[in-house]
Amino acid sequence: MTSTLITNGLVVTAAESMHADVLIEDGRVAALLDPAKTAELGVAADQVIDAGGRIVAPGGIDAHTHMELPFGGTSAADTFETGSRAAAWGGTTTILDFAVQAKGESAMDGFERWMAKAEGECAVDYGFHMITGDINEQTLKEMDMLVDEGVTSFKMFMAYPGVFYSTDGEIVMAMQKAAENGSVIAMHAENGIAIDVFVRQALQRGETDPIYHGLVRKAALEGEATHRAIRLAEVTGAVLYIVHLSALEALDQVIWARDEGRKVFAETCPQYLFLDLDDLGNGFEGAKYVCSPPLRDRMEGHQERLWRGLQTDDLQVVSTDHCPFCMGDHHAFGTQKQLGRDNFSAIPNGLPGVENRMELIFDGGVTAGRIDLNRYVEITAAAPAKMFGLYPKKGTIAVGSDADIIIIDPDRTHTISAATHHMDVDYSAYEGQEVTGKVETVLSKGKVIISDGRYHGSKGDGEYLHRGAGYYI
Ligand code: URP
Ligand code: ZN
Ligand code: ZN
Repeated sequence: MTSTLITNGLVVTAAESMHADVLIEDGRVAALLDPAKTAELGVAADQVIDAGGRIVAPGGIDAHTHMELPFGGTSAADTFETGSRAAAWGGTTTILDFAVQAKGESAMDGFERWMAKAEGECAVDYGFHMITGDINEQTLKEMDMLVDEGVTSFKMFMAYPGVFYSTDGEIVMAMQKAAENGSVIAMHAENGIAIDVFVRQALQRGETDPIYHGLVRKAALEGEATHRAIRLAEVTGAVLYIVHLSALEALDQVIWARDEGRKVFAETCPQYLFLDLDDLGNGFEGAKYVCSPPLRDRMEGHQERLWRGLQTDDLQVVSTDHCPFCMGDHHAFGTQKQLGRDNFSAIPNGLPGVENRMELIFDGGVTAGRIDLNRYVEITAAAPAKMFGLYPKKGTIAVGSDADIIIIDPDRTHTISAATHHMDVDYSAYEGQEVTGKVETVLSKGKVIISDGRYHGSKGDGEYLHRGAGYYI
């Protein structure tokens, strides 16, 4: 039996903060001890980590990543190996990625393909949502089979016609099934049919630069789709989770639904909290920032509303939607963002961020005084664990929980840069941004995988998480 003792730290969960020593045995939290008594009781461990002056928090859970996703004529640049390792560097010890059912394919086949991609590759534990790209009788049956396999959430798209798009009728059928089998529908809520008209019209006018990506994908059309998704969930009884919410128009719909007592939840992402429409300008450099929904106009007040939503629990989760594509020829996949050099709609959609989320939200949330430490843990770890059936195995520091633990120096400042990050992508969306609050040490199931600026883990440390139903509180 291997044991570790983390001493002298401030242990923070979503519920409380306490000066306690954490005893870890065989990968799990064995005890939370009064520091004054640890020595007196004669508690010994194979390894002692001094967390004096530091915060000891649950490892982050990123509920929205896309490792090696085939998308936009190429494939997301991080593999499960490189992306999950980068997650670990940034203090994320669980990722929930999206397996894909392509049109004409069985959902179970898609799931098995994604299981094969991830198996033996990951640095941290991982689970899957399923993108149901072809709703038919067989898929509906397979949704039950997937729940048995630990996939208890299904992503659908009101955007991307011809790719992942589902009609309202297909969404209704999937929602009915989800209501029946206790799973949750995760929705990409943008009116893709309407957006595509604006895309065509912009291109006809010769508007080809990345900035037009932000201008045609209007906030009102995210608000409209969010409202429609909420109504479809209402008439089917489904639990709804809006992914990557970016616009105040969409947030208003979530607030309205939650005020009515509906089981509607939402996540936002660091890019919507820190970046804005201006980043899409500056000629083709803006391609770095092409994602959907797009970055919004700061002057319209989206960012501050999103931060407020996190304060008031109108937004429950911060995930990354990590989906990196290279600008140059750094990678075997070639010059990915360049696919859209003459046509913004051909730029692969997605941003890197899995490594940055925990420190960005610490900086913009805790350091900036917008949220306290407990709320920080809640939106980055506890709430996604509850939402996606992982709590209390993950998302907290309690006796019996997996010892997925991060140690943060709240005062240490560093600068985000592609020169020092570990994601396999040739730019950082947050290049040059200074953040205060540094993840120094990371334990995954009791094993120290990051410390002293070094990675000590190996691929395959991460295991598949067979998820149950969420709490949907
Ligand atoms: O731009 C994005 N969000 N890329 C990833 C695919 C998705 O819609 O989540
Ligand atoms: Zn999406
Ligand atoms: Zn996504």
